[in-house]
Amino acid sequence: MITTATIRQMKQEGKPITMLTAYDCAMARMEDEAGVDMILVGDSVGNVMLGYSSTIPVTMDEMIHHTKAVCRGVSNALVVGDMPFMSYQANEDEGLRNAGRFLKETGCTAVKLEGGASVCKLVERMVLAGIPVVGHIGLTPQSVNQFGGFKVQGKDLAAAKKLIQEAKELERAGAFAIVLECVPAALASKVSKELVIPTIGIGAGKGCDGQVLVCNDMLGMNSGFTPKFVKKYRDLHSEIIGAVKEYINDVQGRSFPSQEHTFKIEEGIIEQLYPTNKKEIV
Ligand code: KIV
Repeated sequence: MITTATIRQMKQEGKPITMLTAYDCAMARMEDEAGVDMILVGDSVGNVMLGYSSTIPVTMDEMIHHTKAVCRGVSNALVVGDMPFMSYQANEDEGLRNAGRFLKETGCTAVKLEGGASVCKLVERMVLAGIPVVGHIGLTPQSVNQFGGFKVQGKDLAAAKKLIQEAKELERAGAFAIVLECVPAALASKVSKELVIPTIGIGAGKGCDGQVLVCNDMLGMNSGFTPKFVKKYRDLHSEIIGAVKEYINDVQGRSFPSQEHTFKIEEGIIEQLYPTNKKEIV
């Protein structure tokens, strides 16, 4: 069973940390069986599974529902629940209570929240309350409206300094890992070296201590836009469409179900149920 101590240890030993998102029990079970170290129930559930155009509409109740399902499928990986937009921004007490809900109601081990200096006080309180926290800086999708789109962060001197500062402050506040999203590789690599806790990169190059991808992206389950940083390991979109088309053809052509997918009944039973007229006369 992977714990926060295992994750810290992996950084010390220079072992790359693997993390993937999952949103349901079936996918989480497969990722766990494959041996992924951490599973993030991301608020990307909004775009990936629920059909929203961003992560903004995702609610605490939706996150709790999906995180519970993921936890049911996992026996080894460390599960992290993602705090959705406005579950912690309005006030710290509410943030703390919502983080507590993840641990109490779902069985996950840790929570993730977006932001740097602005969330450090809350991170401190969560850690004091016994809630392990993953930070998330760089491109933070809940602030996409403020960024004016999905853009690489930390590109100029001031922004790069701010990112390093925020990473250090999150570490000081007690986060046990930090997601770095869409950050130039050279900067992410420096940040990773400056921290004792591991960085988990997404679009942040190979100098991070671990990597995270959205499972549907890496499995090629979407036909639309794919960000530059995603490596598609399979093309499940085509595979699934192909399989569904074959099924439709088989049903329409009456070649499915065949004998091997069909149950038999003992001889004579149907005849007894529906005796022919001739037998009835006899
Ligand atoms: O919600 C999510 O999937 C995330 C990852 C992109 C890190 O926050």
